Order: sequence, then C-alpha cells, then structure tokens
Amino acid sequence: MLTTTSYQDTPGRHHELLAASGFEVCPARGPLSESQLLELIASEGPFDGTLNGDDEFSAGVIDALLPELKVIAKYGIGLDRIDVDHASSRSIPVLFTPGVNHTTVAEHAIGLMVAVSKHFWPHLASVKSGQWQRITGRELAGKRLGVLGMGRIGREVIKRAVAFEMRPLAYDLAWDEAFAVEFGVERAESMAQVLEQADVVSLHLPMTEQSRGMINAQALGRMKDGAIVINTSRGGLVVEADVAEACRSGKLLGYGTDVLEAEPIVSPHPFQEVDNILVTPHVGSRTHESVERQAVRATRNLVNYLQGDDDYIQANRF
Ligand SMILES: NC(=O)c1ccc[n+]([C@@H]2O[C@H](COP(=O)([O-])OP(=O)(O)OC[C@H]3O[C@@H](n4cnc5c(N)ncnc54)[C@H](O)[C@@H]3O)[C@@H](O)[C@H]2O)c1
Repeated sequence: MLTTTSYQDTPGRHHELLAASGFEVCPARGPLSESQLLELIASEGPFDGTLNGDDEFSAGVIDALLPELKVIAKYGIGLDRIDVDHASSRSIPVLFTPGVNHTTVAEHAIGLMVAVSKHFWPHLASVKSGQWQRITGRELAGKRLGVLGMGRIGREVIKRAVAFEMRPLAYDLAWDEAFAVEFGVERAESMAQVLEQADVVSLHLPMTEQSRGMINAQALGRMKDGAIVINTSRGGLVVEADVAEACRSGKLLGYGTDVLEAEPIVSPHPFQEVDNILVTPHVGSRTHESVERQAVRATRNLVNYLQGDDDYIQANRF
C-alpha cells in the first residue's frame, strides 16, 4: 500500500528502487481517514507492508491489516497519526525517516516568519486584485526567537534565524549544549519563559498527549502583544479557535502555519476569515530535494525490512 502523494507525484530515484524490489504496489491518494483505509484494505488487501504518509493508522486499521502485515514504513518523521503502541503490541515495526527533511522544513518556517512579519498575504492579495494596500511590517533582526523543541528542525531554524540577527531562546526536554554554545542559544527553564519573552515563537515539538493544544488562550495570554507564532510541526499543537481569536484581536501580529488540526482543510475554517493567518497546505517538507531523500529512505526501510536486510530505521521497540 502506497498512500503518500508527494512520493508518487515527484520524480526521483525512489521510483526505480521500488520498481526494482519486484513488490506489487497498490497506490492510493492520501492522507486517508480510518474509514478510507478500512475500505482500501477490504477491497485491495491483504498487504505485507505500507508506505504511508499522514494516514490514520488506528488500532482498528492495524488489526484489519493483520495477520499479513509485516511492517509500517512511515514516509516522514511525525508518528502521531499511527497508533505506535498498538503496532508494538502486535510486534509490527514502525519505520520512519529522521534526518532527511529538516533543512527544507526549516526554510519553510523561516519563509512563514518573513511572510507574516512583512504581511505578504494581504499585500499579494491586494496587488493581485488591482489594489495597492500597504501595511507597515516588522523587522526580524534583533527580535527574540523562541523555539519550542530544539531537535533537528528547531536547530536548523535557529541557524538560519541567527543569520537574520535574531536572538534565539529555546526550550527542549533534552538539551544540545554544544549546539547552544555554537549558535548562542539561551536555554529557557520552561515553555512559559519562551512564551513570555519571545517575539516570534516557532513550534518544533512532536505532537503527543503532553503537547496537544499547548498553544491555547491561556498560553497566548502569556505572550507579548504583537508576537508571531509559526507552526511547521502539527496543527493540533494549537487550539485553532484561540489562535484565530488572538490574530483577530491583534494580540498576535499573525500566525504562519503549514499544518492544520484536520487536513485537508475543512471549510468553513476560522482561519479563512483572518488576514494575518497564513496557511500552507502541509508542504513544509515538499521540495524536490527533500521528497527524493525522504522517499529513498522510506523505500529502503520498507524493502530492506521485507528482504531481511538490516539497513532500516525503526521508531518503536517491543
Ligand atoms: N510540516 C512538515 O512537513 C513537517 C515535516 C517534518 C516534520 N514535521 C513535524 O516537525 C516535528 C519536529 O521534527 P524534528 O525532525 O525536529 O523532530 P526531532 O525529534 O528531531 O525534534 C523534536 C524535539 O522536541 C523535543 N521535545 C519533545 N517533546 C517535548 C516537550 N514536551 N517539551 C519540550 N521538548 C520536547 C525533543 O526532545 C526533540 O529535541 C515532527 O514531530 C513533525 O511532527 C513537520
């Protein structure tokens, strides 16, 4: 089962690798909901393995794939749409692709930061419609960048933000002291400290039960007036209605996001009405360079696992 569309739609070496494996491939257009996956399994299954994006791999879906399923190969790093504990309880390895898309996603985060602070969206929309509306923007230089989650993507964002002369402050459960020293990152003691001190908060945490909805009305209330929030991680990290309200009221200068709680967007959505909310359709890792790296890694994971080669990256242990 192959559900990721960027994999299918982008040329690259991954197509040859998959073809060379000799496996029969069943393509579908994800991201698929639980019910769409169940339908696909009933009509096209059984499957030995999956090469999937952000499809809803619930416990029910995993059970429906058994007993034939041997491996779930996630095309990407975020595993929040997969019931990993359930897969582990059934001894199904969940493979993933860390270390292939961090530069591309970091560029996207910086792009959103620039676009929100310079009001790109209303400016573009106004000129395209024959208007000449000009809004005074904000400079990023000298501003405090608050990074929540200083992992692979967070660190790449910091490197680029430092070149913009931003002053990084970060919070992470783990701490990379060598990186912090090299790039002059101040260590925050808590998430609250980042929220209170940052001019721009950029989210790079995984979505877990702990982080779900963490940017809510209360957290937004702690932030500086006119701050910016950037999200290239997961839509569910924020309470979307609260963010929309903060942008509408002017509490936030804007919200730049690549991700929504429900994807694709379900219209009407509160963000559609608010000019200073900029949304891209989960394309943060979708560049030709990154897609090929990620697709090759995911294909190697799947094919190698099924062929008994130990070159694969596994996320779960059981
Ligand atoms: N927009 C996209 O296309 C796209 C692409 C890739 C990844 N992502 C998202 O970006 C997220 C980050 O990716 P990454 O490659 O940097 O992951 P990573 O695992 O390298 O980094 C995540 C960091 O968050 C920290 N962390 C986890 N929980 C925390 C908590 N509760 N408080 C503080 N720190 C915490 C971890 O210690 C780690 O350093 C992924 O989980 C994924 O959801 C989005």
